[in-house]
Parts: sequence; C-alpha cells; structure tokens
Amino acid sequence: RKDGQSGDGIPTFLLLGPSGSGKTALVTVLQTRGNVAKSEAKEADEEVDEEEERSRSAVNGHSRDALSPTRLSQIASTTRMRLLPGTPLGSNRYRSENDYEVTASKKEGAVYKIIDTPGHGKLRSEQAISYINKTGIGLKGVIFMLDSSAMDTSAADDGEMAKDTVSYLHDVLLNLQRRPKLVKKAKAEDVRVLVVCNKQDLFTSLPTTAVKSRLEMELERLKASKKRGISAVDAKEDADENEDETVLGGGGEQKFTFKMLDDEFGVTVEIVGGFVKDEEENNDVKRWEEWIGGCL
Ligand code: GTP
Repeated sequence: RKDGQSGDGIPTFLLLGPSGSGKTALVTVLQTRGNVAKSEAKEADEEVDEEEERSRSAVNGHSRDALSPTRLSQIASTTRMRLLPGTPLGSNRYRSENDYEVTASKKEGAVYKIIDTPGHGKLRSEQAISYINKTGIGLKGVIFMLDSSAMDTSAADDGEMAKDTVSYLHDVLLNLQRRPKLVKKAKAEDVRVLVVCNKQDLFTSLPTTAVKSRLEMELERLKASKKRGISAVDAKEDADENEDETVLGGGGEQKFTFKMLDDEFGVTVEIVGGFVKDEEENNDVKRWEEWIGGCL
C-alpha cells in the first residue's frame, strides 16, 4: 500500500477545527461542487469501520443505529468526496493532457475522503487529534478550519474563542511534528497542512495575512510558556532533548514561525482564506479545492 492511501486506496483528509468554524458546512459545499451522486455519498456515510463503531459506542453508550443526528455530530464521520471536475491534481503535473487519469479527473473529479470531526474541546483528543497518529487510514492532509471573525484576542469574551483556536492548532501541529517518531515509517512531508481562514465574507473577519501573524504570535507565546515549564521541571541535561520532542518548533531560542516548522520538522503549513457561504449563498472555496487537488 502506498503511503497517503487508506485501506481501500482512497486518499484521506482530516478536517479539524473548533466548534462553529464551518467544518460540516464545508463538507456539504465541496460535495455539491464535486457532484457526488447522492447514492455514493450515502454509501460512504454508512461505511463505518469497526473501530469507528466501537468509539461511537464508547462515547454514547449506544450502538450507532440508536443515535440521533445530533449525537452523530459528537463523533468523527468519514465521507467519500469528489473534487470539482477539472481541478488540477498534484500527480498530474508531469502527465500528458491525454493521459487517461487526467481526462478522468476532468470529467468526474478525483475521489478522496474527508474525516469530519467534532469541534468541542472535550471530544478533541479522542475524536479528532487521535486520527493524526492512527495508521491504516492513509492520511494525506490535515485541514484545520478556523472562524476568521473569532480571532480577536481582545474580544468581548476576553478572546476565549481566539485562544481556544490557537491552543487547538498548537496541539495539532505538535502532534504532526512528533508523528514521524510515533508512527512507523511516517515522514513529516507525507501529511500536509492547510489552515483554512473561513468566513472571510464577514466584515468583522480578520484578513488572512493578519490571521497568520496573529497565529504565529500566539503560538510563540504558547511555545515560550511550555518551554519555561519544561526547564523548570527537568534537570538541564534532559531539558534540551525533551524540548525538541514536546515544544512546538523545537527547543531553540528563535521565535516560532510556520516556516520554522517546515525547515526544522518538514511540516508544511499553508494558510488560505475564503468562505463557505455568505448571505447570498455564494462561496469562495476554490483555492481550498486546489490545495486538496495538489495533494492528490
Ligand atoms: P461543530 O460540528 O460544532 O464542530 O461545528 P462546525 O465546524 O461543523 O460548524 P458548522 O458547519 O456547523 O457551521 C457553523 C455555523 O457557521 C453555521 O451556522 C454555518 O452556516 C456558519 N458558516 C459556515 N461557514 C460560513 C461562512 O463562510 N460564512 C458565514 N457567514 N457563516 C458560515
């Protein structure tokens, strides 16, 4: 089996992000644009592997048939998708225009899967982040979705939403940084990261470049406090080694940047803005589709 492909050979993307950022809305829009036949999508909805079934029971104390739709949003669910036909694929870059697969992706749109996860804080480690280190699901990419209108750290809620988003992203990136150590044969480059700055239609939203610098600033803060915690606890000799393992971007003195994560650990992060739906039901998701296509 090639890496980045699941047991059935279909490349899989993990969709993460806090509650209300728009994850489920994104899956719906991408499905519509990809013209996923109703029967095909339904089939995938019902395609629950044993492990998922077990965790459903563990979370809810019920078998899946007994669950109401609201309860279903408390657990991760896998959906089969198709890309908007004609979206360029990474693997097509070196193929000729007449190649069968190129023509097929133009007509039908490449098949992939999305694991949509619950955003609630209490469910994250079990139902979302844990998928990063699971083997056999063929992870190609992680899409971290945030609400760009909730990134104000001095907002009325004391910036709680923004802080929650940053700490979630921190945990996701740290898990990706450690992945090659935890997962046999995994290389950091195998899994790419897209940070989706959603809700750019709202005038209260922070522009994407501002979201990026805010994230870097806040992630640096988290990194610094984590580092202080570790050196306080560990004897100095152990601290350095430990920091590379447990501090985002490693234990160096440099300020955290996304570039550093790429340079030092091979974790490539792209940050792209757009919106799933505005008041008139328009969307701006094309660049996210192109990123997915680039991974396929
Ligand atoms: P959880 O399932 O709780 O993790 O949330 P979620 O991330 O799946 O969010 P969901 O898709 O349910 O969207 C939350 C709300 O945001 C819904 O009311 C959406 O209609 C709205 N929404 C999603 N995307 C956009 C967007 O781009 N712009 C605007 N204005 N609203 C959006």
